[in-house]
Amino acid sequence: MIRATLLAVVALGFTTSCDAPPADLISKHMIISDTIPSSLSSTPGDPEIGREVFVSRERGHCVLCHIIDGLDAPFQGDVGPELTGIGARLTGAQIRLRIADPSQIWPDTIMPSYYRVTGLNQVDGDFMGEPVLTGQDIEHLVAYLGEEKGSTAE
Ligand code: HEC
Repeated sequence: MIRATLLAVVALGFTTSCDAPPADLISKHMIISDTIPSSLSSTPGDPEIGREVFVSRERGHCVLCHIIDGLDAPFQGDVGPELTGIGARLTGAQIRLRIADPSQIWPDTIMPSYYRVTGLNQVDGDFMGEPVLTGQDIEHLVAYLGEEKGSTAE
């Protein structure tokens, strides 16, 4: 009897932990080399909105860690690499993966994975299963950073 109960408990634990693993938004086949070639939204990104997402504390707040020369933002941190001229160094597809899931490239990076819902720690209950940014916001960022060619002299 005790053995049967024990088995049931073990079986229960097994099903709850193995049942329905959360589906991730980024699947392996979307990533090719160091890029995500296909858009994450049906509507093309708008660079103007992308700039807002980049600066806005409620959305990307990328300025917390990244500087872009000439960007009008009250505060810009430099924990991450400067992104001035990033559009001249990386393709849109490379930029997309670096925003969606930088841990694919730098496993120990402090940069958040903005489009990943599994394998994240430090996520509050309410936000479980929700990516930090929508696919559309990431497309706005890709459009904005793709146009960031660093016009000022190096
Ligand atoms: C907490 C700090 C932090 C935040 C917030 C952050 N990043 Fe980053 N980012 C980094 C670091 C650090 C790296 C370099 C990767 C590494 O070495 O860990 C990086 C790398 C990048 C790169 C690649 C740069 C290159 O030269 O290859 C891009 C593009 C980028 N970030 C875009 C963004 C965007 C867009 C946002 C906002 C949605 C953002 N980052 C938010 C820290 C941050």
